[in-house]
Amino acid sequence: MKLFSYKLVLSIICVNLANVVCLSKFSLDSWNEKVIWKLENKNKTISVAGSVPGAVYSDLQKSGTIGDILQGFNDVLTRWIAYDSWTYTGKFNVSAKNLENAVAQLVFEGVDTVAYIELNGRSIGSTNNMFVRYVFNVKQYLQIGENELKLSFESPVKFAKTRSEKYFTAPDCVPDIYNGECHANQIRKMQASFSWDWGPAFPSVGIWRSATLEFFNGAVIRSLTTHTEKRDSSWFLITKVYLQTGENIKRIKGNLSLYLSVEGHQTFKAGKYLDVATRDDGTIEAEIDMSISSNLITEWWPNGYGDQRLYNLLVFLTTTEKDREISYKHAKIGFRTIELVEEDAALVLGNNTTAGHGLTFYFKVNGYPIFMKGSNWIPSNILPEIGENRKTINNLLTAARDAHMAMLRVWGGGIYESDYFYRRCDELGILIWQDFLFACSMYPVDPDFLETVKTEIEQNVIRLQHHPSIAVWAGNNENEVALRGNWYNTKSEFEKYKREYITLYVDTIKPIVEGIDPGRRYLVSSPSNGHKSEEDGYIAQNPYDPNYGDTHYYNYLADSWDSNIYPQTRFASEYGFQSLPSIKTMRTATNRTEDYYVESNYSKHRQHSPAGYSFIEAQINRRLNLDKNDTKYFEKFVFYSQISQAMAIKTETEFYRQSQSNWYTMGALFWQLNDVWQAPSWSSIEFGGKWKMLHYFAKTFFAPVLISPRLTKTGDVDIYLINDRFVPIIDAKITVDVFNWSSLAPIRSKSYPADVGPLNTRMQATFTLWNAENKDEFFLRFFLQAEGVPSSPYNYLFPVPLKNAKGLKKPNISITVQKRDDKNNGVNKFKININVDTVIIFLWLEADSVDGKFEENGFVVTEANFIVDFTTQDAITAKELEKSITYQYYLQ
Ligand SMILES: *[C@@H]1O[C@H](CO)[C@@H](O)[C@H](O)[C@H]1NC(C)=O
Ligand SMILES: *[C@@H]1O[C@H](CO)[C@@H](O)[C@H](O)[C@H]1NC(C)=O
Ligand SMILES: *[C@@H]1O[C@H](CO)[C@@H](O)[C@H](O)[C@H]1NC(C)=O
Ligand SMILES: *[C@@H]1O[C@H](CO)[C@@H](O)[C@H](O)[C@H]1NC(C)=O
Ligand SMILES: *[C@@H]1O[C@H](CO)[C@@H](O)[C@H](O)[C@H]1NC(C)=O
Ligand SMILES: *[C@@H]1O[C@H](CO)[C@@H](O)[C@H](O)[C@H]1NC(C)=O
Ligand SMILES: *[C@@H]1O[C@H](CO)[C@@H](O)[C@H](O)[C@H]1NC(C)=O
Ligand SMILES: *[C@@H]1O[C@H](CO)[C@@H](O)[C@H](O)[C@H]1NC(C)=O
Ligand SMILES: *[C@@H]1O[C@H](CO)[C@@H](O)[C@H](O)[C@H]1NC(C)=O
Repeated sequence: MKLFSYKLVLSIICVNLANVVCLSKFSLDSWNEKVIWKLENKNKTISVAGSVPGAVYSDLQKSGTIGDILQGFNDVLTRWIAYDSWTYTGKFNVSAKNLENAVAQLVFEGVDTVAYIELNGRSIGSTNNMFVRYVFNVKQYLQIGENELKLSFESPVKFAKTRSEKYFTAPDCVPDIYNGECHANQIRKMQASFSWDWGPAFPSVGIWRSATLEFFNGAVIRSLTTHTEKRDSSWFLITKVYLQTGENIKRIKGNLSLYLSVEGHQTFKAGKYLDVATRDDGTIEAEIDMSISSNLITEWWPNGYGDQRLYNLLVFLTTTEKDREISYKHAKIGFRTIELVEEDAALVLGNNTTAGHGLTFYFKVNGYPIFMKGSNWIPSNILPEIGENRKTINNLLTAARDAHMAMLRVWGGGIYESDYFYRRCDELGILIWQDFLFACSMYPVDPDFLETVKTEIEQNVIRLQHHPSIAVWAGNNENEVALRGNWYNTKSEFEKYKREYITLYVDTIKPIVEGIDPGRRYLVSSPSNGHKSEEDGYIAQNPYDPNYGDTHYYNYLADSWDSNIYPQTRFASEYGFQSLPSIKTMRTATNRTEDYYVESNYSKHRQHSPAGYSFIEAQINRRLNLDKNDTKYFEKFVFYSQISQAMAIKTETEFYRQSQSNWYTMGALFWQLNDVWQAPSWSSIEFGGKWKMLHYFAKTFFAPVLISPRLTKTGDVDIYLINDRFVPIIDAKITVDVFNWSSLAPIRSKSYPADVGPLNTRMQATFTLWNAENKDEFFLRFFLQAEGVPSSPYNYLFPVPLKNAKGLKKPNISITVQKRDDKNNGVNKFKININVDTVIIFLWLEADSVDGKFEENGFVVTEANFIVDFTTQDAITAKELEKSITYQYYLQ
């Protein structure tokens, strides 16, 4: 059969064939003009148009009842919204024909969170978990003509508080500096919506994902999972189809068909006749197996290691009840193997080394060990209903791809992201470390809580399982280490909390995940010692053990530009430093001049990390010279904070990549990729999408081939060659150029032969700083020449803190812009020529009045002329762009 277009197949089957109907769906989303939603507060003084998907803050903002919630102090000024009780009422018409169907189901893909639901004045049920899909059988409640659906929401803040009175679970509350709300752990809602150290509290309510009425006589395919397994020269595919019918139908009869398109324009078909009894709730699963010769399949690879080949999978259920009624589900699947290898480290590192103790902790993809480069993902918007915005998701994920990231950790205080998010990860080759949504807290384990958690885990694992991008599941964020480290004063009740921890993550969640998805590792916590934590009864003595599992490491006190401060780890799944967002981004939150001071009420309000600014300041002052009396102090503080963050994460990340050689460190995911508001945070991309200097640096420090220097405690420079390619680098040459701070001509150069195996890192040579006396007069540049390596970026090393560097001169810079001819998808490309007359450190270009992006930025300039590309969708001329470009750099 020819390669099919699934849309074409559906249109033929659903529209053109006689006697066939595709299952009839009536969308209750606001785009459907046949539904009218209204939002009201408890005393009905506010009554505005409601949205589905939507929620209370965005609807009140749309109606003009409140202003932009992210401006000024609006997070606390609008908090009354979270304390009130809100009602969403929807009106729509149902036809007699609709009601001829045996089953009518009301499906909510997401309700945030505690709501009582009535249809035409009669109660149909309630919700208490925003991560659960709710399906109600509503045939008996619907009427021909107009119907009224009403969701009455309880204040999430009050609900959590009331629950905590009965089931108190530590911590008592978040720190005051968060301006947050307490007891998020009592409610199955995005934990960060009660505030975090990088974000404001917006405890929202609403119907945050789509709602639909479905009418049918047979059954619906709700979900499917796909298990792929390589056996000799074939791929074995097990597709499990999750079917649901109404409570009043106890049998599903029909034909289940599966189509899979593979290479060579071929389509495989498999089918099965079903005649099965359902469970009481109308659900049942059916399985279809298929074996495909592996020459018809191209493997899926993470970003940087190969293509992301995806294949269309389409499943139909045709039932005979009444007309031939069809339900279908489409997925794009990939074929790859992935394992998290935890084996005796001595096998890799020798049994007589410290590094050889313990277990390895690395991902093997399609049989190859891969060092995971990446970051941590927090929700893309503080309002979950806006977090599905495709443009934002796409911009962030492509930025991750462009910085050579192959893994993002979807952090446990956020949400299970949208189908679109995971589909883009599949397409971009971004592996996902998926936490379950429990973070920085102990959690209750009363029966109601466990019951809803079970449903949540089951549904979300089934929904996400087929994505090749998902690499691993983790039970929670930092809860093992929080209990061991007594973060929440739980010491006196350690045993109780430990029992509850095991009840939730081990006895409840683990068997569900492993039952649905036996092919992926379930880690109980992140960080943890992996298998070793499990052997040690789940709460290890030291969950940060460098010889086991993953670690999170934060240290704002030591000198972050010094490689020697960082402890070893098998896998760094979190590490970071704060910086401030650019002035351009801050301007979207406030324009009041009095706010633009580190000490202003506004600045304090936005900094949720205790002593956050003083840590930033201390880091800046260790390395850079920033005069408190400078008239541009605040602007410089912002700029220097970004330099400091970028250099710190560069240093730490390169330390981890270097440590692949001697510690078998196999992952570096810095904290954090994105932001939810304009505030100091650990992000590499600001709210609104502007890249911080860190994200530009990531493009370099994550480069597939990199020379990476390490200044050792003895003052020598160890030179590492890092190779993330499948082929070795042989007969290569590393050149070290020594630059005087005051000249573009190297004063000395030295070369070393270099080679390194595939997917490997090796120390190549030690460069001795020959004259310790004048180390403040020069810095080093590293460059690789190797056949078959088209590009490896320059790297640099500054022997002394830059504030002590001697001879940096004020540069003369000239910038001219030319338009490039190639233009695609409405993107305009410009070539920016930069001419300078001396060394410049951290040259930072901005074009704030243009909505566009520099390809590279934050330059250490050692060449008199160089070119940077700039892309924008704005229709501007080269001259206009040239005029709008401004720059900053570091000078003592
Ligand atoms: C109605 O509720 C709002 C918001 O909670 C409150 O500000 C207002 O005072 C109330 N009005 C009346 C008339 O009770
Ligand atoms: C339902 O149908 C009635 C009668 O045609 C019409 O007046 C009403 O506006 C419809 N309601 C909605 C929500 O479309
Ligand atoms: C199921 O398939 C069988 C064999 O192809 C066919 O005879 C039968 O009519 C089909 N039933 C439905 C409901 O499509
Ligand atoms: C250590 O490794 C060597 C060489 O692989 C092996 O001969 C020896 O038995 C090992 N020792 C222990 C204690 O495992
Ligand atoms: C440790 O092992 C290495 C490599 O197997 C060997 O060269 C070295 O002599 C050993 N050291 C000790 C102290 O056994
Ligand atoms: C600040 O001013 C800029 C430029 O006029 C404007 O675009 C922005 O919306 C303003 N920000 C706020 C918070 O009003
Ligand atoms: C800053 O906040 C304090 C305490 O709330 C208040 O007394 C002071 O007036 C505020 N300062 C400004 C400039 O708004
Ligand atoms: C900054 O200004 C204050 C007050 O004029 C002065 O006392 C202090 O010495 C100045 N500090 C520096 C580093 O110039
Ligand atoms: C760097 O340049 C300065 C100014 O030309 C000179 O005084 C100094 O000796 C140079 N340092 C080195 C290490 O070459």
